[in-house]
Amino acid sequence: MTISRRGFLILGAVTATAFAMPPFISLKAYAANLEHPAMSKVTINVNGKPRALDVDTRTTLLDALREHLHLSGTKKGCDHGQCGACTVIADGRRVNSCLTLAVMHEGSEITTIEGLGMPDNLHPMQAAFIKHDGYQCGYCTPGQICSAVSVIKEIRDGIPSHVSESLTEAPQLIAREFQERMSGNICRCGAYSNIIEAITEVAEVPA
Ligand code: FES
Ligand code: FES
Repeated sequence: MTISRRGFLILGAVTATAFAMPPFISLKAYAANLEHPAMSKVTINVNGKPRALDVDTRTTLLDALREHLHLSGTKKGCDHGQCGACTVIADGRRVNSCLTLAVMHEGSEITTIEGLGMPDNLHPMQAAFIKHDGYQCGYCTPGQICSAVSVIKEIRDGIPSHVSESLTEAPQLIAREFQERMSGNICRCGAYSNIIEAITEVAEVPA
Protein backbone atom coordinates (compact mmCIF):
# COMPACT_ATOMS: atom_id res chain seq x y z
CA MET A 1 0.00 0.00 0.00
CA THR A 2 1.31 3.43 -0.87
CA ILE A 3 0.53 6.46 1.23
CA SER A 4 0.39 10.00 -0.07
CA ARG A 5 2.50 12.75 1.45
CA ARG A 6 -0.72 14.37 2.79
CA GLY A 7 -1.84 11.06 4.32
CA PHE A 8 1.58 10.59 5.86
CA LEU A 9 1.41 14.02 7.53
CA ILE A 10 -2.12 13.41 8.88
CA LEU A 11 -1.09 10.02 10.25
CA GLY A 12 1.93 11.59 11.91
CA ALA A 13 -0.16 14.35 13.50
CA VAL A 14 -2.73 11.88 14.86
CA THR A 15 -0.01 9.64 16.29
CA ALA A 16 1.79 12.55 17.92
CA THR A 17 -1.44 13.80 19.49
CA ALA A 18 -2.24 10.36 20.85
CA PHE A 19 1.16 10.17 22.54
CA ALA A 20 1.06 13.76 23.82
CA MET A 21 -2.35 13.49 25.50
CA PRO A 22 -2.39 11.73 28.85
CA PRO A 23 -4.89 8.86 28.92
CA PHE A 24 -8.29 9.79 30.36
CA ILE A 25 -7.85 7.44 33.32
CA SER A 26 -4.65 9.26 34.28
CA LEU A 27 -6.43 12.59 34.27
CA LYS A 28 -9.12 11.16 36.55
CA ALA A 29 -6.50 9.76 38.89
CA TYR A 30 -4.70 13.09 38.87
CA ALA A 31 -7.90 14.97 39.79
CA ALA A 32 -8.62 12.49 42.60
CA ASN A 33 -5.08 12.92 43.85
CA LEU A 34 -5.53 16.67 44.01
CA GLU A 35 -8.71 16.28 46.05
CA HIS A 36 -7.36 13.57 48.36
CA PRO A 37 -3.56 13.84 48.37
CA ALA A 38 -1.54 11.01 49.82
CA MET A 39 -0.24 12.21 53.18
CA SER A 40 2.75 10.92 55.08
CA LYS A 41 4.35 11.57 58.45
CA VAL A 42 8.03 12.40 58.48
CA THR A 43 10.41 13.59 61.18
CA ILE A 44 13.34 15.69 60.02
CA ASN A 45 16.04 17.13 62.25
CA VAL A 46 16.17 20.76 61.21
CA ASN A 47 18.90 22.93 62.67
CA GLY A 48 19.41 20.45 65.49
CA LYS A 49 15.75 19.98 66.46
CA PRO A 50 13.47 17.10 65.45
CA ARG A 51 10.47 18.44 63.54
CA ALA A 52 7.49 16.13 62.99
CA LEU A 53 5.47 16.87 59.87
CA ASP A 54 2.40 15.46 58.18
CA VAL A 55 2.82 16.36 54.53
CA ASP A 56 1.42 15.66 51.10
CA THR A 57 3.95 13.17 49.73
CA ARG A 58 4.64 15.55 46.83
CA THR A 59 5.86 18.33 49.15
CA THR A 60 9.41 19.35 48.40
CA LEU A 61 11.92 19.82 51.19
CA LEU A 62 11.94 23.51 50.22
CA ASP A 63 8.19 23.89 50.73
CA ALA A 64 8.32 21.87 53.95
CA LEU A 65 10.93 24.28 55.33
CA ARG A 66 9.25 27.45 54.14
CA GLU A 67 5.52 26.67 54.32
CA HIS A 68 5.34 24.12 57.13
CA LEU A 69 8.22 25.14 59.40
CA HIS A 70 8.19 28.85 58.48
CA LEU A 71 11.93 28.91 57.94
CA SER A 72 11.78 31.46 55.17
CA GLY A 73 15.54 32.06 55.02
CA THR A 74 15.77 29.38 52.34
CA LYS A 75 14.63 31.00 49.12
CA LYS A 76 12.57 29.76 46.19
CA GLY A 77 14.01 31.05 42.93
CA CYS A 78 13.37 28.86 39.90
CA ASP A 79 11.83 25.85 41.76
CA HIS A 80 13.49 23.72 39.04
CA GLY A 81 17.05 23.09 40.23
CA GLN A 82 18.58 25.81 38.11
CA CYS A 83 19.44 28.72 40.42
CA GLY A 84 20.69 27.36 43.76
CA ALA A 85 18.67 29.85 45.83
CA CYS A 86 17.12 26.94 47.75
CA THR A 87 20.42 25.29 48.75
CA VAL A 88 20.49 23.73 52.22
CA ILE A 89 22.86 21.22 53.81
CA ALA A 90 21.41 17.71 54.16
CA ASP A 91 23.49 15.18 56.13
CA GLY A 92 26.61 17.22 55.43
CA ARG A 93 26.08 17.70 51.71
CA ARG A 94 24.52 20.62 49.89
CA VAL A 95 21.28 19.95 48.04
CA ASN A 96 18.79 21.96 46.03
CA SER A 97 15.84 21.63 48.37
CA CYS A 98 13.39 22.25 45.51
CA LEU A 99 14.52 19.00 43.89
CA THR A 100 14.05 16.62 46.78
CA LEU A 101 10.90 15.52 48.59
CA ALA A 102 10.45 16.07 52.31
CA VAL A 103 9.42 12.43 52.81
CA MET A 104 12.84 11.33 51.52
CA HIS A 105 14.48 12.96 54.54
CA GLU A 106 13.16 10.89 57.45
CA GLY A 107 15.81 11.27 60.17
CA SER A 108 18.03 13.53 58.05
CA GLU A 109 20.03 16.37 59.56
CA ILE A 110 19.11 19.52 57.65
CA THR A 111 20.93 22.81 58.16
CA THR A 112 19.40 25.98 56.77
CA ILE A 113 20.80 29.51 56.83
CA GLU A 114 19.04 30.01 60.19
CA GLY A 115 20.95 27.04 61.59
CA LEU A 116 24.34 28.30 60.42
CA GLY A 117 24.11 31.50 62.42
CA MET A 118 21.88 34.35 63.49
CA PRO A 119 22.65 38.10 63.63
CA ASP A 120 23.99 37.91 67.19
CA ASN A 121 26.12 34.85 66.44
CA LEU A 122 27.15 34.80 62.78
CA HIS A 123 28.85 31.88 61.08
CA PRO A 124 32.30 32.96 59.76
CA MET A 125 30.97 32.64 56.19
CA GLN A 126 28.05 34.96 56.96
CA ALA A 127 30.44 37.48 58.52
CA ALA A 128 32.75 37.26 55.49
CA PHE A 129 29.86 37.87 53.07
CA ILE A 130 29.01 41.05 55.02
CA LYS A 131 32.65 42.16 55.17
CA HIS A 132 33.20 41.65 51.42
CA ASP A 133 29.77 42.89 50.25
CA GLY A 134 29.00 39.47 48.84
CA TYR A 135 25.40 40.42 48.03
CA GLN A 136 23.18 43.21 46.80
CA CYS A 137 19.47 42.32 46.94
CA GLY A 138 20.32 39.31 49.11
CA TYR A 139 17.83 36.90 47.54
CA CYS A 140 20.43 34.38 46.46
CA THR A 141 22.57 34.87 49.58
CA PRO A 142 21.26 32.12 51.92
CA GLY A 143 21.83 29.56 49.17
CA GLN A 144 25.22 31.02 48.32
CA ILE A 145 26.33 30.84 51.97
CA CYS A 146 25.07 27.26 52.52
CA SER A 147 26.82 26.26 49.30
CA ALA A 148 30.03 28.07 50.24
CA VAL A 149 30.19 26.37 53.65
CA SER A 150 29.77 23.00 51.92
CA VAL A 151 32.34 23.84 49.24
CA ILE A 152 35.06 24.35 51.83
CA LYS A 153 34.12 21.04 53.48
CA GLU A 154 34.14 19.26 50.08
CA ILE A 155 37.64 20.58 49.34
CA ARG A 156 38.94 19.65 52.80
CA ASP A 157 37.37 16.18 52.46
CA GLY A 158 39.20 15.74 49.13
CA ILE A 159 36.07 15.54 47.00
CA PRO A 160 37.28 16.43 43.46
CA SER A 161 35.73 18.99 41.12
CA HIS A 162 36.19 19.58 37.40
CA VAL A 163 38.98 21.97 38.31
CA SER A 164 41.88 19.95 39.66
CA GLU A 165 43.62 22.74 41.59
CA SER A 166 43.46 22.54 45.35
CA LEU A 167 43.81 24.92 48.25
CA THR A 168 47.58 24.50 48.13
CA GLU A 169 47.73 26.19 44.72
CA ALA A 170 48.22 29.88 43.92
CA PRO A 171 45.37 32.26 44.93
CA GLN A 172 44.01 32.73 41.40
CA LEU A 173 43.72 28.95 41.09
CA ILE A 174 41.86 28.79 44.38
CA ALA A 175 39.41 31.35 42.97
CA ARG A 176 38.92 29.17 39.88
CA GLU A 177 38.20 26.19 42.10
CA PHE A 178 35.60 28.16 44.04
CA GLN A 179 34.05 29.55 40.85
CA GLU A 180 33.67 26.04 39.48
CA ARG A 181 32.18 24.63 42.65
CA MET A 182 29.84 27.61 43.14
CA SER A 183 28.63 27.56 39.52
CA GLY A 184 25.24 26.13 40.54
CA ASN A 185 24.45 29.26 42.56
CA ILE A 186 23.26 32.08 40.34
CA CYS A 187 23.37 35.71 41.49
CA ARG A 188 21.31 38.01 39.31
CA CYS A 189 22.93 41.02 41.00
CA GLY A 190 26.34 39.78 39.84
CA ALA A 191 28.09 39.86 43.22
CA TYR A 192 30.31 36.97 42.12
CA SER A 193 33.75 38.52 42.65
CA ASN A 194 32.87 39.61 46.20
CA ILE A 195 31.40 36.20 46.97
CA ILE A 196 34.66 34.56 45.90
CA GLU A 197 36.62 37.00 48.07
CA ALA A 198 34.46 36.05 51.07
CA ILE A 199 34.90 32.32 50.49
CA THR A 200 38.65 32.72 49.97
CA GLU A 201 39.00 34.52 53.28
CA VAL A 202 37.14 31.80 55.19
CA ALA A 203 39.05 29.03 53.39
CA GLU A 204 42.37 30.54 54.40
CA VAL A 205 41.55 30.07 58.09
CA PRO A 206 42.83 26.61 59.11
CA ALA A 207 40.08 24.13 60.02
S1 FES B 1 14.78 27.26 43.66
FE1 FES B 1 15.86 25.41 43.79
S2 FES B 1 17.43 25.57 42.34
FE2 FES B 1 16.24 27.37 42.03
S1 FES C 1 22.49 39.40 45.68
FE1 FES C 1 20.77 39.70 44.39
S2 FES C 1 20.59 37.82 43.34
FE2 FES C 1 22.46 37.64 44.41
